[in-house]
Amino acid sequence: MKGKIAVLLSGRGSNFRALYKATKKGKIPGEIVLVITDKKEAPGAVSAKEYGIETLYFRRKDYPDKASFDLAMAEEIKKRDVELVCLAGYMRVLSPEFVRKFRGRIMNIHPALLPCFPGLHAQKQAIEYGVKFSGATVHFVDEGVDSGPIIIQAVVPVMQNDTEEILADRILKEEHKIYPEAVRLFLQEKLEIKGRRVFIKK
Ligand code: GAR
Repeated sequence: MKGKIAVLLSGRGSNFRALYKATKKGKIPGEIVLVITDKKEAPGAVSAKEYGIETLYFRRKDYPDKASFDLAMAEEIKKRDVELVCLAGYMRVLSPEFVRKFRGRIMNIHPALLPCFPGLHAQKQAIEYGVKFSGATVHFVDEGVDSGPIIIQAVVPVMQNDTEEILADRILKEEHKIYPEAVRLFLQEKLEIKGRRVFIKK
């Protein structure tokens, strides 16, 4: 049986497409059964529909607060027996209630070497700080902002002439490699979380 994956996204969806392609090529022993977006016209959601994946749009103003919005998403995810929830450019911090329901089963990708530069505009933060290397991080999601246990990281150089866009593109290429790899390891039950550390079983 293939592991069922739900993807939450808000925008372009290139990481979602990388995950989808990896499932189709058999690189991930899983299937994306549900995509949830909080932005109706998100290109990622358009792709999901084209691929024939069930796609739900949750409108923020239909819910009094974040907890009830997240609870409604959680109910839809639970109904489908999803093993793993992947955040792929989902630009909202999940409520603690949501995190508790799926603890150890939510992953996120972030365009920096965490714990450096969490939050928004990570690539811009890296350039302005002056670091010589940055990268991408796949991590489990906890109640904080980009603060959960780290699964895989990839490093890229930061060049003198980099703009935010150039650095973002360089990092994105690595994101598309390490996210499918992290999902593969999870679905093959090769990841073990011990406190802050994630061990990869042989
Ligand atoms: C990616 O670079 C991802 O790492 C970042 O948003 C982009 C989404 O691109 N996520 C965050 O910054 C989360 N804090 P995509 O929609 O093409 O996957």
